[in-house]
Amino acid sequence: MFIPAELIRKKRAGRHHTHEEIRFLVQEFARDKLPDYQMAAWLMAVCFQGMSDEEISWLTQEMRDSGTVIDLTDLGLTVDKHSTGGIGDKTSLILAPLVAAAGIPVPMMAGRGLAHTGGTLDKLESIYGFNVRLDLKQFRAQIEKVGTAIMGQTQEICPADRKLYSLRDVTGTVDSLPLICGSIMSKKLAEGMSALVLDVKFGSGAFMKTLGEAEQLARALQDIGVRSGKRVTALLTRMDEPLGRFIGNALEVQECLDILQGKAAPGGGKDYSDTVELTLELAAHMIFLGERAKSLQEAKALAGVLLKDGSAYSKFQEVCAEQGGDLEKGLPQATHSSSIKAPIAGFMHYKDTERIGHACIYLGAGRRFQTDPLDMAAGVEVFRTNGARVQVGDTLFKLYHSGGPGVDDAIREIEKSFLISPHPVERTPLVAKVLL
Ligand code: URA
Repeated sequence: MFIPAELIRKKRAGRHHTHEEIRFLVQEFARDKLPDYQMAAWLMAVCFQGMSDEEISWLTQEMRDSGTVIDLTDLGLTVDKHSTGGIGDKTSLILAPLVAAAGIPVPMMAGRGLAHTGGTLDKLESIYGFNVRLDLKQFRAQIEKVGTAIMGQTQEICPADRKLYSLRDVTGTVDSLPLICGSIMSKKLAEGMSALVLDVKFGSGAFMKTLGEAEQLARALQDIGVRSGKRVTALLTRMDEPLGRFIGNALEVQECLDILQGKAAPGGGKDYSDTVELTLELAAHMIFLGERAKSLQEAKALAGVLLKDGSAYSKFQEVCAEQGGDLEKGLPQATHSSSIKAPIAGFMHYKDTERIGHACIYLGAGRRFQTDPLDMAAGVEVFRTNGARVQVGDTLFKLYHSGGPGVDDAIREIEKSFLISPHPVERTPLVAKVLL
């Protein structure tokens, strides 16, 4: 038994916790015995003071053990992917069915929107009826039948992350290496995967702003996985501009449906090529780790075929059918839209992409408070890539919303996210580094 305020003061002073202290904080919070206000204060202390490697490993272990750890070893090699979060980052929706279509079981425990970034669970819930609240039996049965299932943390599996995640989302305590490690790896270790591909993002739209910070996070995540006997590959990928054409729950699902069905992006704006490129890169690493190809080149070629020949789309339809999602009903559509046009000519330069995520929160696509309902149709359409040439009056962004009070704030955020440079702007490679 410990006095919570003393543990908060200890971390605030930059001292190290014992394993028993971390167990107390995590387990009491998961069982609703430690209130949100004390946990939020402790999380903020961690953001300022960090944690030792030992503390991170105890945090991850206690979060994982707050619920059941699923054993999928009888299914052979299982592979999952997780991203540290970005703007328009929708690849999981294509990857789970695509890799399952290659014959590799994909157990996927995903998250909701977190701070300025979107979440796979919120996106899937924009499909009418889609149920992400699976129990353990349903999760396993669906992986055996369809090859993949996507669910969120529950009271049964990783309850500590379920509660911590939604508290961090609204208390400014997301961008902390130890907390991100605990959150991601506790879920991944609990879901029972045997190999993992991490998409660790860096840039102004990511939690890690520089390649160096992202590499530190990637190595810490990899270390935890490897020490638990998992194979982990990390891709360090650019997040200094939005990924793909659309940002927002239903809008991103539509982009994924288009890609899965081989449809091009609507005319007049950015195409889907960066979403497709990153998806195929991540898929190649998943297929390679799942031992369905002898080389990365072969794995990438297979991923391309499965995307092109409709196998991944059929698998996505199967997932929807199993999890109650009704694609026939169509996706929610916004009632209003507002455009932002170029005031001068020049070259597009995204300088603070995180602000586009803030704009989405103002439009209702993300949460300002834990209990906020989401506007599934809300979001932003992106018309230009970094470095693209821009003429006066070109549409740069279109905002989708329901005419609520946040629209002016959203427009202000978008206007601060970019500038139009008189000089050409270099577009950096999508994948900067791979840690095998
Ligand atoms: N994804 C997660 O699951 N948790 C984090 O903390 C960040 C990204």
